[in-house]
Order: sequence, then structure tokens, then C-alpha cells
Amino acid sequence: MQRIIVVDDVEVNRELLKNILEDDYVVELAEDGQQALQKLKEYQNETAVVLLDLQMPKMDGYAVIAEMKKMGWIKRIPVLVISGEFTVEAENQCFELGVSDFIHKPFEGSVVSNRIRNAVELFSYKNQLEQKVKEQEEVLKRQSHIIQMQEEQLRKAKPFNRLMMEYRAAIMEVETKLKVLNEEFSQEYNRNPFESIKSRLKSPSSIFEKLARKGFPVTVESIRENLTDVAGVRVICSFPDDIYRLARLFTSQDDIFLVREKDYIKSPKPNGYRSLHLILSVPIFLSDKKEYMKVELQFRTIAMDFWASLEHKLKYKKDVADADEIVRQLKVCADSIEELDYQMQEIRNKIDKSKG
Ligand code: GTP
Ligand code: MG
Repeated sequence: MQRIIVVDDVEVNRELLKNILEDDYVVELAEDGQQALQKLKEYQNETAVVLLDLQMPKMDGYAVIAEMKKMGWIKRIPVLVISGEFTVEAENQCFELGVSDFIHKPFEGSVVSNRIRNAVELFSYKNQLEQKVKEQEEVLKRQSHIIQMQEEQLRKAKPFNRLMMEYRAAIMEVETKLKVLNEEFSQEYNRNPFESIKSRLKSPSSIFEKLARKGFPVTVESIRENLTDVAGVRVICSFPDDIYRLARLFTSQDDIFLVREKDYIKSPKPNGYRSLHLILSVPIFLSDKKEYMKVELQFRTIAMDFWASLEHKLKYKKDVADADEIVRQLKVCADSIEELDYQMQEIRNKIDKSKG
């Protein structure tokens, strides 16, 4: 049975409350605030609820509440005030101090036991939830510690550095192929299929964060198997049709394999993001073998790139004021950019067709 502490300086009240409650609780009686605190010290982990009178000699109910607050007990143990005080101020003061309920004297037995039951159920649910959250925090802390240790080991290991070298080689292969296409186009057709290329190798911490987030093991083999964006190459074109022409030319080379294509130009993301993503398998030629590496190749127009870098800033900023409005404005800009890209393309077509 759970324990309940009844605090009242009038004996009749104590006995009345004891009669109402003794079938369901072990009832502890206290005549004033000091006795109440002694009982609380003794039974702090077993006490389900405190019934507290306000006006008492030696130490009154407010002082008991203040002490319970100081000791952190009021967060775990519900306090129900039973008082003859009828002022709104007194009642509000009690609630502000953290009291769960206020019952007026003279009280009705069934109402008292119902209110106590509600408060006890609510607090036990709340305490259980808090305990669960605490336990989960502990588990997460332990897991993140394990991942950190694995990460450190891997960072130092030779196979990891070797793998990163292979990804760098794959980026070089892709860059070279793109540059060759650019050279050829500028000589044959007097134009460049792209404006610029940006390459990046995913940082070790992003690699480990992504493996952990997706629940993959933190090993060199797992990086190779499960991540497709360790090597990333972004190609910025002037016009949408350049993107598709270049992508087609690139993937039709006989040593390149297309693993996956995501066309966010034809089907933009809900936020307005547009780009063509290709996951490729690209050969690199090492001293003793040929190895296929995965590379993420992204194609965008200048305008799409402009949009994506601004939107990227929003994603990595916490607590942006008016974020919903910014998201809406970005979507409007994405739509305008789409229109602009095709208008510019049409103008270029007209210029190209004109003689002279
Ligand atoms: P990630 O785990 O983020 O790599 O997503 P994913 O593996 O599902 O691939 P997805 O094709 O959606 O995105 C790959 C990359 O495209 C991202 O790492 C970003 O560089 C870029 N990207 C995708 N969506 C967005 C977006 O909404 N905004 C911006 N700025 N970039 C995006
Ligand atoms: Mg990615």
C-alpha cells in the first residue's frame, strides 16, 4: 500500500481524513509543518501524496510547500491543500508554489478520495515517463560513446585512409571526364556545356554521423557498401537542357555505370529543391587492380545552385525567426527560378537560330 501524509493541527480533521483513506493507503499523521517534514524525510520515496492544512502552529503549510520545493520533492509528490481559506489570493498562491489541488473545508469524503486518486495517478504516470526519458538518455549517451570510440579507431586506421584516397581518385576521374567533354564542346561547337564544377569528399565526422543515424555499422566495408555520397561532384550548367545532354553523354561512356538516378528537376522536392542526381559507379586504376567507386554527381543550373545554397543555410541554422515564412518565400523563389531557367533557354534558342 502507498503512504499518504495527512497534515492538520485539528485532531478531528486528522481522524476524519484517516477514516476516509485508511482502506487504500497507509496513513501518516502530522500535527504541524515540522512533523510533516520529518515524515517526508523518512518516507520521501514511498509517499504517494501529501494532504496539507495551511494554518498551523509552529510551521504553516506555506513553509512546508517552500521546503518541499527546495528539496525537489514537490516535483515527485503531489500536494493537495485542504484549507478553510476562501480567498482567491491564497488559492492562487498555493498553485503558484506548485500545489496540485486545493480542497475547501468542510470537505466531502468522496470528493477528497477522488481528487487524491486523480493526483496520484497523474503523478505516477508523470514520474514513470520521466524515469523512462532518463533511462533512454543514458542508453543514448552510452551508444554515442561507443560510436565515438569506433570513429576514433577507424579514423586512425590505415584502411580508412586508403578508402578516402580511393574516393579522391574517383572524384579526379569524374572531373577529368567532365573537363574532356568541356574541351571537346568548346572546340567543336564553340560553347561550354557547364559553367563550373565543385567537388567534395565527405568529412569523416559526417560519414560517421550518417552511418550512426541510419543504423549501419561503423566500419570501412560499411562505408563502401552503404554510403553513396562520400565522393560528390556538382556540375553547374547554364541551361536545363545542358544538364540532360551532359548527363546522357556522361552515363553513356562505357566504363561508367549508373546505379541510381533521382530527377528533382522533373519532380522537385516539396520545398522547391531542384537538381538532377546520379549515383555512379566509376572505375579507378590502382597499381594492382581496377576498383569501382560510387560517386554522387549532381547537376544544377546556376539559378538552382543559387537557390540551394541559400536554402542550405536555413537547414543548418537553429532557431531561425519566422522560419515558416522563409520556407514559403523560398518555395516562391524556386518556382520563379524554374520559369526563369526555361525563359533564358528559349532566348538562347532564338539567338542560336538567328543567322549571322
Ligand atoms: P542525404 O542523406 O541528405 O544525402 O539524402 P539522400 O541520400 O536521400 O539523397 P538526396 O538525393 O535527397 O540528397 C542528396 C544531396 O542533395 C544532399 O546531401 C544535398 O547536398 C542535396 N539536397 C537534397 N535535397 C536538398 C534540399 O532540399 N535542399 C538543399 N539545399 N540541398 C538538397
Ligand atoms: Mg547525401
